[in-house]
Amino acid sequence: MSDPSPIRAVKGMNDVLPDAMPRWHRLEAAFRETARRYGYGEVRTPLVEPTPLFVRSIGEATDIVSKEMYTFVDKGDDMLTLRPEGTASAVRAYVEHSVNGQEPVSKWYYLGPMFRRERPARGRYRQFWQAGLECFGDPGPQIDAEMIEMVVTLLSSLGVQDIEVLVNSLGSRETRGRYRETLRAFLQPHEARLSEESKQRLITNPLRILDSKSPTDQEICAGAPSILDLLDEADKKHFDELTQTLTALGTKFRVEPKLVRGLDYYSRTLFEIQGKGGELGAQNALCGGGRYDGLVKELGGPDVPSIGFAMGLERILLALPNEANVRSLDAVVVVTEPSMNVKAAVLLKSLRDAGLTAEGDLRGQSMKSQLRRAEKLGARTVIILGPAEEARGVVQLKDMRARHQEDVTHAEVIAAVRTRLAMDAPIDGATR
Ligand code: HAM
Repeated sequence: MSDPSPIRAVKGMNDVLPDAMPRWHRLEAAFRETARRYGYGEVRTPLVEPTPLFVRSIGEATDIVSKEMYTFVDKGDDMLTLRPEGTASAVRAYVEHSVNGQEPVSKWYYLGPMFRRERPARGRYRQFWQAGLECFGDPGPQIDAEMIEMVVTLLSSLGVQDIEVLVNSLGSRETRGRYRETLRAFLQPHEARLSEESKQRLITNPLRILDSKSPTDQEICAGAPSILDLLDEADKKHFDELTQTLTALGTKFRVEPKLVRGLDYYSRTLFEIQGKGGELGAQNALCGGGRYDGLVKELGGPDVPSIGFAMGLERILLALPNEANVRSLDAVVVVTEPSMNVKAAVLLKSLRDAGLTAEGDLRGQSMKSQLRRAEKLGARTVIILGPAEEARGVVQLKDMRARHQEDVTHAEVIAAVRTRLAMDAPIDGATR
């Protein structure tokens, strides 16, 4: 006998139902439009990749690779992983298709689900959506500033308020290596007071201790040496020019030498945008990014400097002002009795063929309940079909905003709906 208990979604993985979709669509459309204006084209890569891609790029000692990946052996014995982020896949595709031989600079964007087995909380999920950009072939620093400015512009156009832009530079791989040792030497005498996790990280990945949320760890780190003091001349010049360009673009930022981020592929520019408003809780990193100049080469390609960022769509939605999620329809067809159902089906088809959004409820409900539903669906107009009107060759058209009702002929009905919609449109953008 089959088990009748309902099956629930995997923990930390969410359904998004149609009523919540308009906000998602607005966010996705704004992202796509902004990316297009800045010269980025969309790339789509598989959700599943060979596991070594992430191990080699994100780094073995990172939380993502050591604890959070959904990895499995498929029937052909290959080790595969559900992508935890988009950069590694983009670089793999860039190398695999020898894109660098075709154009000197490539600007790509992507939008899709990512998978990390983290502890679920508000704003932190096991399947979450990212929108991201990757720019290959430009060493910066102007492109770095352009990318940061672009995200800030996007967030403010969406109405996300109260954001803070943090920037830092990690310098070259060698600098990071030297900093790792400097930091380890600084933290060693405090080891006994460090949190358990940070004790572990002192061995595996001391930079991440700077990210620790433990108050004692934070207190110890307050006096830690700054990576910015270890930068070589070229890295320092790159970082100075980045901050100058950001200032010239009018983008506010704060230099945060303790910003390290949890992925190993970064070098030089690093940034994160944190939010404070809306329903965001502790998961306040709205987006993060940085330069990964060595990664294309490390994954078997040429030496191509690159930079990118990604933002978490769920977190942006939590940070957005809570507007009503009204779905709207151009017309709802209502019948006074079921004998009109075939006529209603034909009318619905002609409305939709004309490009209008239209719905009808032909389940034999009362007029009252059909009208209530039309209201709930946000109908701009309601078209009522009844035998008496049919005998006169008309339908009743109800303007739901003006609360006015009139007879229109079958031939005029589409034009009449369009007239109502035109009344709502802004005049020549003057009210935008
Ligand atoms: P990331 O900082 O790991 O960077 O993730 C970017 C953003 O994804 C975060 O700022 C956050 O908004 C969102 N995010 C991450 N994990 C979760 C989660 N468990 N639940 C909900 N949202 C989450 C990257 O992924 C890099 N690939 C960014 C990048 C692109 N760097 C260079 N190019």
